[in-house]
Amino acid sequence: MTRDFAKVGVVGLGTMGAGIAEVMARSGVNVVGIESTAEALERGRGHVEDSTARAVTRGKLSAGARQAILDAVTFSTSLTDVKDADLVIEAIPERLAPKQQLFADLDAACAPETILATNTSSLSVTEIAVATTRPAQVIGLHFFNPAPVMKLVEVVTTVVTDPQVVRDVEALAQRLGKVDVTVGDRAGFIANALLFGYLNHAVSMFESGYAGREDIDAAMTLGCGLPMGPLALLDLIGIDTAQEILDTMYRQSGDRLHAPAPYLRQLVTAGRLGRKRGRGFYSYQQPDSPVVVPDADTPSAPGPAAGAREVSRVGLVGSGVLATQLAEVFTEAGYQVTRVGEPALSEPALSELAGIQLVGTELAGCELVVEAAGADAPVTAALFGALDLACPGAVLATSSLLPIIDLAAATSRPGDVVGMHVTAPTVTTLIEVVRTVATSDEAVATVSAVCRRLGRQPVGCGDRAGFIVNALLFPYLNDAVKMLEAHYASADDIDAAMKLGCGFPVGPIEALDAIGLDVALAVQRTLYQEFREPGFAPAPLLTHLVTAGYLGRTSGRGFREHPAP
Ligand code: CAA
Repeated sequence: MTRDFAKVGVVGLGTMGAGIAEVMARSGVNVVGIESTAEALERGRGHVEDSTARAVTRGKLSAGARQAILDAVTFSTSLTDVKDADLVIEAIPERLAPKQQLFADLDAACAPETILATNTSSLSVTEIAVATTRPAQVIGLHFFNPAPVMKLVEVVTTVVTDPQVVRDVEALAQRLGKVDVTVGDRAGFIANALLFGYLNHAVSMFESGYAGREDIDAAMTLGCGLPMGPLALLDLIGIDTAQEILDTMYRQSGDRLHAPAPYLRQLVTAGRLGRKRGRGFYSYQQPDSPVVVPDADTPSAPGPAAGAREVSRVGLVGSGVLATQLAEVFTEAGYQVTRVGEPALSEPALSELAGIQLVGTELAGCELVVEAAGADAPVTAALFGALDLACPGAVLATSSLLPIIDLAAATSRPGDVVGMHVTAPTVTTLIEVVRTVATSDEAVATVSAVCRRLGRQPVGCGDRAGFIVNALLFPYLNDAVKMLEAHYASADDIDAAMKLGCGFPVGPIEALDAIGLDVALAVQRTLYQEFREPGFAPAPLLTHLVTAGYLGRTSGRGFREHPAP
């Protein structure tokens, strides 16, 4: 028998608190919303009213049901109004001292049987619990933004939480229509621990000028199917909240990847706290609006790509699936395509290569040649030496993940060599257009214009390991393996957390089995070697599984069994 939660208090009615109050009220729970000042209380009431009004406008909620929700929530500035609540959830800003003070106050104000929960994203629930005389009745109940939409609730237990309290709170989460995962008290729990390293890395990429705001976000939405790009998501979460979460995680893990990127602090100091203020990485129509409006940082419309060369004939080098798909895509877009299979090359043969013989003369006259041979570094470099001679005047592009500058250096015209990284051209619309220190603006403009004519979205970035997508994706996947290895959470809970808490289309463990553990290990090793970042070291478990031949779906077994490879 689990407890019936008839009355719940929510303290702090910012974005999360108001969302939690709405979720509770939607499930027929009576809610008392508490704020410290009358002004903050009005703002909190406004959040609930606006959110439910939007739902009515969108036809998701009837006017009567909205009224029932509003009737179920009362508002107060006095903690004594939650004294007889079954549960009080705290959702005030992410700082330990005020939370501890609030819990001490709630402990004094509430009946002995009231459960006290914190919605903290990263602070220690244990440290909050010991500020009360009832630590066994203190628990973490972590919702995700927007609370009415995201299905996940992390239930965070401490070493002293009463198991009955855990069961009661899990049952409540289910009554709210949420999916609960129960975990121990570790900074960031599951979802934030995996999400924030990735978000912080994206900020560093932007801050260093490696890639633009829109490019980073488009890379992750189009390349990985995420509902939002990392910088837009930071705006949704709140830059101040994100910075505090990272700070806490860094203090606990000592992992440099969690040290908040300095740009976050600058945004916070400048008051650009994200959507809630109408300005963060992006500018919004008004505070709380999801509608992005142009600002001084908005790139001008691409137009007819200044400096782009005219392209009508495209050469494709490669005989594999990628080259076949690219041939289809180019042909569909009206390009005249000449395809040559990659020459069968071996290391000893390389020294004897005379470039012109390598590809013959079929590609002469092409304005753009795309290499999709998937060969190793020496062979691909030799191929570029050959293409240089065989295709005078053509822009030479590569779909490979190899350092583009190595290929450029094998030609007599490095300005014409550019990366055109695409993984599944018939599935994703993303193409990373990679420039080296030597690539000409003209070559970049040419390839970008071609991408657009293909109906694909070019995103620009520099020539470093992983470009945008892999550099952001694989360390996150690797972190998930480390979490599994540490026995903090199961593969199912990790996958559920990222799908239901952050709207990722697949969980990281599932993704690894689909991508191939060997592929993931190779990418991760390359990133580690290039950046020398300790946090990028491949998880030992990943290495062991690959050594054991557990490569994922293709081998019938990876993190999970796949009976029909
Ligand atoms: N309140 C209520 N409902 C909302 C809402 C809100 N604030 N925002 C969106 N919705 C609803 C819409 O009404 C719509 O419902 P239907 O599908 O029934 O029509 C649905 O959500 C989708 O909304 P939109 O069509 O307006 O927008 P979208 O498709 O772009 O989705 C999104 C918006 C749900 C926010 C989506 O972009 C998403 O899932 N983003 C990822 C969010 C995420 O990662 N959250 C976790 C952040 S980390 C965190 O919160 C933990 C922490 O501790 C910081």
